[in-house]
Amino acid sequence: MIFDGETIRVEELGGGLFELRFDRKGEAVNKLDRLAFSELAQAVEALAKTPGLAGALVTSAKDTFIAGADIFEFVEVFERSEAEIAEFVAANAKIITALSNLPAPTVAAINGLALGGGFEVALAADYRVIADTAKIGFPEVTLGIFPGYGGTVRLPRLIGLVEGGKWIISGTPRPAAAALDLGAVDAVAAPESLFATALALLKQAAANPGEWPKRRREAEQSLGLEEETVRDFITGLKVEAARALPHYPAAHDAVALLEAAAGIPFDEALALEAKGFARTARTQAAASLVGNFVNEQALKKISKGYAKTAAPVRKAAVLGAGVMGAGVAYQSALRGVPVLLKDVSQAALESGMAHAEQLLDKLVEQGRLPQDRADAVARSIKPTESFDNFSDVDVVVEAIVEDIAIKTSVFRQVEAATDAKTILASNTSSLQIADLAEGLGRPQNFIGMHFFNPVPKMALVEVVRGPKTSEAAVATIVGYATAMGKTPVVVGDCPGFVVNRVLTPYLIAFLQLVRDGVDFRQIDRVMEAFGWPMGPAYLIDVIGLDISHHVVEIVSAGFPERMVAAHPSAIDVLKADGRLGQKNGRGFYLYAKDARGRPRKDADPAVAALLASVQPQGESALPDADILDRMMIPLILEAARCFEDGVAASPGETDMCLILGLGLPRYLGGALRYADWRGLKKIVETAAKWQKLGEIYRPSEKFSARAASGKGFYG
Ligand SMILES: NC(=O)c1ccc[n+]([C@@H]2O[C@H](COP(=O)([O-])OP(=O)(O)OC[C@H]3O[C@@H](n4cnc5c(N)ncnc54)[C@H](O)[C@@H]3O)[C@@H](O)[C@H]2O)c1
Repeated sequence: MIFDGETIRVEELGGGLFELRFDRKGEAVNKLDRLAFSELAQAVEALAKTPGLAGALVTSAKDTFIAGADIFEFVEVFERSEAEIAEFVAANAKIITALSNLPAPTVAAINGLALGGGFEVALAADYRVIADTAKIGFPEVTLGIFPGYGGTVRLPRLIGLVEGGKWIISGTPRPAAAALDLGAVDAVAAPESLFATALALLKQAAANPGEWPKRRREAEQSLGLEEETVRDFITGLKVEAARALPHYPAAHDAVALLEAAAGIPFDEALALEAKGFARTARTQAAASLVGNFVNEQALKKISKGYAKTAAPVRKAAVLGAGVMGAGVAYQSALRGVPVLLKDVSQAALESGMAHAEQLLDKLVEQGRLPQDRADAVARSIKPTESFDNFSDVDVVVEAIVEDIAIKTSVFRQVEAATDAKTILASNTSSLQIADLAEGLGRPQNFIGMHFFNPVPKMALVEVVRGPKTSEAAVATIVGYATAMGKTPVVVGDCPGFVVNRVLTPYLIAFLQLVRDGVDFRQIDRVMEAFGWPMGPAYLIDVIGLDISHHVVEIVSAGFPERMVAAHPSAIDVLKADGRLGQKNGRGFYLYAKDARGRPRKDADPAVAALLASVQPQGESALPDADILDRMMIPLILEAARCFEDGVAASPGETDMCLILGLGLPRYLGGALRYADWRGLKKIVETAAKWQKLGEIYRPSEKFSARAASGKGFYG
């Protein structure tokens, strides 16, 4: 043993060959944090100083090779100045370069996932052998950055600018076979023979002292940019990367870097990478995407905590086979929890089952599910009109009509038909859990489980804790949502919970803009250019004008001191014209199918006249920046209130609800992170400018106090 650390050990294998093994003590995976880098530097130094060093194997004792850099460290690092960030990455890249400069051949044995920095360590070796089950890649662009430890320099020099560039900007890991095809690895082996194959390769390299130094020199050669194919390719990559601009600049920055670094000497290219990395790391997207990652990890940790006490859900029941119920039943069955699907209407049951089967057919068509599995999933959804066989269900998810009287009478029947331990979860979007629990015999087993439409696609489930809900019920529903492949966030009970509560002032702000004569298409354009997948008018059409109306009514009635929707509103007049939005083909826009059967959104010339009746001052123009502020400020202020009054337990949970449930652009990192980015003082100033429009523009006292203290939500 020539080095024995917390992350790395270096042992002699005999004949001057050594194994540098990543095996982080007390952790499930290897990661490249400060400690790992400091030990890698020492281990490499120890190897370099070893007399008679004939070669080194780089291995991992975990299931993964190296999962990548420690993203948690990035949060703090990215707050530093550009120069400091560049210094940070350059120092780590130097350690990896020292590995690549050892005075003997090196072979990386990639036994499992090698991501980001893990891939960069592997690229520093002279040869790479990969297990056929492993994957390698650079996920950095999904975090708003690009590889910074030599990846943008070594990969293109190894496999060419074209393939290297594509790989880096895709952000997706590739399987072993693809890596071999591209020349990123030298051999693929079965996991059990990986070590032997890598060792044999190392011995062979050690026995050919002319070969590996030549290969090393080749790997450091500059790349030519003159070839037409390369130039064409760079142009193509730029166009592709530009699609994500202006909000996600990382891919574009990476292409520019690849182009600039290709023709220059290796060391200069590394220096350029560090500088470029630092610039990109200081962007809003990088700060937010890394922040989202941290928030997601925190949510996973919370869910894991609940999993310890969660009762297993082996059989579930769903009440209501409509849009939501059918989706919930499908998702549950697909993820292995069989369901009884109950409705009062045979026709609804038939259409609910047909919907689930359609979704399964699609998965089969896409090659994502074998037919026999799809058939088994479909069989595990049992349509029924009665409460027979409910006695052994662990969870009942209620998704019937949004009517408190009907819901509470159905709950009484559910309690009579189920076991004392059965958890009853309501998918209500606007009623309060406390109100629905009135009159229940087992209110401790009653909880909200708020899915989003379409259920299979939308990741968020708000798990709503009512005043009498037990911790055991929360744990079980968090566990069930996780088992369904969803991201549960536990929230408190209030009108609209987090997502619809924050959506309401946003929609009120929109209706007010329309009332003031602003063209709804301009509002949509501004918000879409800001990064929303759809502007507010389009969003209302997709949600449905009836449902949007209902949400605004119910939630604003819950917060009458600030949420006031003037009537008649744009939604009122369009609804009165029989427009329900996308579902009946008419809303703010017209919807039709294009030649390929895909939904198409068209302008509707009739809408302007309808809206004129709610625009007392006629049409008026507003600068885009004002529209943006008038839309975003109420959203930010309400999100802040959700956190301040404890409905969401943390800024991270508030923000993830809005990203996953509302479609808030990921590069904002959520409403609260966006507020931090703009600065709370600035938000307060901007809000003051619009306060004449109503209370949705008034910051809470806590918000103002936080702004005055100079703090943000994330510190
Ligand atoms: N649609 C959405 O976007 C959305 C999103 C989140 C939550 N929700 C909530 O989900 C619930 C269902 O909404 P939806 O859009 O699926 O409604 P829907 O009208 O599509 O379906 C409701 C179904 O419930 C059935 N039903 C009525 N009374 C019943 C009873 N006593 N027992 C069993 N079934 C009964 C109806 O026959 C119908 O098939 C509502 O509480 C709604 O607020 C809806």
